[in-house]
Formats: sequence, C-alpha cells, structure tokens
Amino acid sequence: MTDVAAKPTDSLTVRDNRTGKEYDIAISDNTIAAKDLGQIRLTDDEPGLATYDPGFVNTASCRSAVTFIDGDKGILEYRGYPIEQLAEKSTFLEVAYLLINGELPTKEQYETWVHEITYHTFVHENVKEFVQGFRYDAHPMGMLMASVGALSTFYPDAVNISDAENRHMQMVRMIAKMPTLGAWAFRHAQGKPFVYPDNELSYTENFLSMLFRMSEQSYAADPRIAKALDVLLILHADHEQNCSTNAVRSVGSSQVDPYSAVAAGVAALYGPLHGGANEAVLRMLRRIGSKENIPAFIEGVKNGEEKLMGFGHRVYKNYDPRAKLIKKACDDVFEVTGVNPLLEIAQELEKIALEDEYFVKRRLYPNVDFYSGLIYEALQFPPEMFTVLFAIGRTPGWLAQWNELITDKEQKIARPKQIYTGDRQLTFVPAEERWA
Ligand code: CMC
Repeated sequence: MTDVAAKPTDSLTVRDNRTGKEYDIAISDNTIAAKDLGQIRLTDDEPGLATYDPGFVNTASCRSAVTFIDGDKGILEYRGYPIEQLAEKSTFLEVAYLLINGELPTKEQYETWVHEITYHTFVHENVKEFVQGFRYDAHPMGMLMASVGALSTFYPDAVNISDAENRHMQMVRMIAKMPTLGAWAFRHAQGKPFVYPDNELSYTENFLSMLFRMSEQSYAADPRIAKALDVLLILHADHEQNCSTNAVRSVGSSQVDPYSAVAAGVAALYGPLHGGANEAVLRMLRRIGSKENIPAFIEGVKNGEEKLMGFGHRVYKNYDPRAKLIKKACDDVFEVTGVNPLLEIAQELEKIALEDEYFVKRRLYPNVDFYSGLIYEALQFPPEMFTVLFAIGRTPGWLAQWNELITDKEQKIARPKQIYTGDRQLTFVPAEERWA
C-alpha cells in the first residue's frame, strides 16, 4: 500500500490495475506531461500508455504567454491587457506590436512599427497577374489562402526562420500585405480595377481605400467606419490555441517559412465551424427572413437538423466578451449606415435562445461571429468577404504564436499518435487473380 501522505502534493499517483504497479507523475501548471504516461506499460516491449483526445479537448499543446482566456468568466486578455481596454483605447497596429513583441511600444517603437507596416503594403506586380487568373466567382478566402502561400516564392529568404531579424521582416510584410491581398480578391470578384496602397492613410483607411476607391484622387473613409473596422480587427487579433492557430503552429513546427504556415491558418479559418461562421450567420438570418419564423427555426436546431451559427464555443461557456464589444460597435456603424434590418432577427434569436433550456443547459452563448456579419454587411461587404476580414485581423495573432513556437526550445514537430483500427498482415492478391 502506498503511503499517500509521503507523496509530494504536486504529483498524481496512478495505479495500473492491469499490473498492480503504481506510478508518481509530476503535476506542473495543473497539467501532467503526456510523455510521463509512457512509462506505464504492460510489458517492456509494448508501447506505453497514451491519451486519446480527438479535437484536443483537454490537451495543452504548448506554453504560451500571448493570450489568456477564462471561458467560464468570459475574460479575454492579450499579453495581460483586457480586450475591453484595448478595443476602447488602442489601435490595431499597436495591438499587433503588443502581441508579437510582448510589450506595448514606446512612442519611437510605435512610429517605426507603423512606418514599417505602411511601407510594405505593396506587393510584387506578378501577384496582380495571378490574382487576375482566378475565375470571376472564386471565393476570396480561396484567393487569399493561395496568395499568402505564394508570397513565400517572392521572399525565399523567409526560410531563415532561426534569424530573429529575418522573422521580424516577414511578420511586417505579412501584416502589411494581407489587406492588399484581401482587397484585391474583393475587387477581382467585382470586376473592378485593383487599387494600390496609399501610404498617406492609416492601416484601416488604406484598406477601405483599396476596397472602395474608384476615380477619386484619395479615398476619405468616414472616421467612424474606419474606427469601427479597427476595433473589429483588434477583437479578432488572437484567441490562443484555436483551430487556425493550431494549424499555423502545427505546419510551422515543420520549420517551413511563415507564409506557408499562415496559408494553413487561412485554410483552417475558412471552415464554417471556425471563421466561416460569420458568413454562415448572415445566410442563416436571411433564410429565417422574419421574426415569426424564429420558433420553427429554433425547433429545427433543437431537433438536430442544423446548428444555430454564431452560437457556442469550445472555451467560452459564458457570453463571449468579443460579442459584447461587437454589439456596441454595431451601434456606431449603424449610426452612419442605417440599421441592418437583419439586426432585429438576430436580437430576437439571441433572446429566445438565451432563455431556451436546450441552449441554457449546454451553455451556448453568442460568439464573436454572431453580430460581426451584420456590421460587415452594413459596411457593404458581401458575405464571402467576412472571413477575409477575420483573417486580416487574426494575422498578428498567428504570427505572434508562430514566433513563440520558433523560439520555444520545448517545441517539436507536431506529430500526434493514433489508435490504429485497421487490418494487419494481410496477404496481397494481385488484381488479375482477385478479379478473375
Ligand atoms: N447550435 C446548436 N447546438 C449546438 C451549437 C450550436 N451552435 N453548438 C454546440 N451545440 C451543441 C452540440 O450539438 C452538443 O450537443 P449534445 O451535447 O447534445 O451533443 C453540445 O452543444 C456541445 O457542442 P460541441 O459540438 O461538442 O462543442 P465543441 O466545443 O466541439 O464545438 C463549436 C464548438 C464552436 C464548433 C460549436 O459550438 C459550433 O459548431 N458552433 C456553431 C459554429 C460557430 O458559430 N463557430 C464559430 C466559433 S467562434 C469563432 C471561431 O472560432 O472562429
């Protein structure tokens, strides 16, 4: 019998009932190292015990100092700063600096950073040509994914990932060029000429200019719209180990260049369970059409026919703090653009869902995507562009996490285990015998 009192308290005692053996496994940061379970085995020549965790529901894949989330309390912090304060008082580029460098910039650091980003917004002329090569109805996320990945061919030096200065240069380039690539994907779909970056404008004003400028000399965005878009980018800038960030880290762990790793992030974000949900929300609201149709729609969700898009989250079991801030930003935008008629349906849907036992029991609340589509639509974006906006906002987060990965000595190439369920040792019968 093991003397439990004699054991260190920061350890876990595991008894393998197959063998009767006991093991002490260290607990650190409220986790155990999965590799420590490897010592638990039936015989010396068999593989040790492993964990099975599809979807990484209860597995930490890294140590990270970038973003903190408390899903029960609805708290989100970037480098320790609450999202509410950053959304109200900071700018997207300052937040990008904070995420990547770990600290807020001095005045000089900020000015240098803004200058660097502003002067890297142009892309090689060949990029224009291959963007033009897409079909007229190509989804802009597919175009963005391909063009970010293609940037690696323009900057072959990006493979020098062990050089901090080189990493800095690629991160600047990517934050600078994402709006250009996103805007050009939008213009291509509209059959409009591409607009070059305007270095006199702020990050969001320049993005709006590349999206909407026609024959005017310089595009003057409404400052309230530019500010609301800046806030939206801040709210999307990072969200710890979500699906796309995990994709960036996983692909980046092979030591590929950061453009290729971020292209993987864009691909993951495209999916309807992740960043693609904002597009799906808009289509859902349009399909519901009017408040009278909400009860029947909710019944369908409860019967498992479909999901209430923009609701639920792996981590938040409370109101997503970003959704609260987006609701507020809606008011600012609608003041300029007029209220989106779908808002009424969204608000009624939220009210009914928050009182319904199905959603209450499962702790399903609106997430970041529930209201963001309404703002984007008011800003004249077609639904296909919503996830592109998410990707532009998430780029500093992907890069901060990638940079952390590259400099983390504990990290290795991502290579999960599997539980093999297939056949073994079959005898191959050639086709002519099998088909005879
Ligand atoms: N509508 C209806 N039922 C839902 C929903 C929803 N939106 N979300 C979860 N559930 C149910 C789910 O069916 C399950 O029920 P049961 O226990 O009876 O099987 C229970 O709630 C737990 O859900 P889960 O699918 O096990 O949870 P998860 O952590 O694996 O999935 C999620 C999280 C975000 C993928 C999921 O909530 C979802 O599909 N939501 C809709 C899509 C969406 O809005 N995605 C955006 C997420 S936030 C931004 C981002 O990450 O990009």
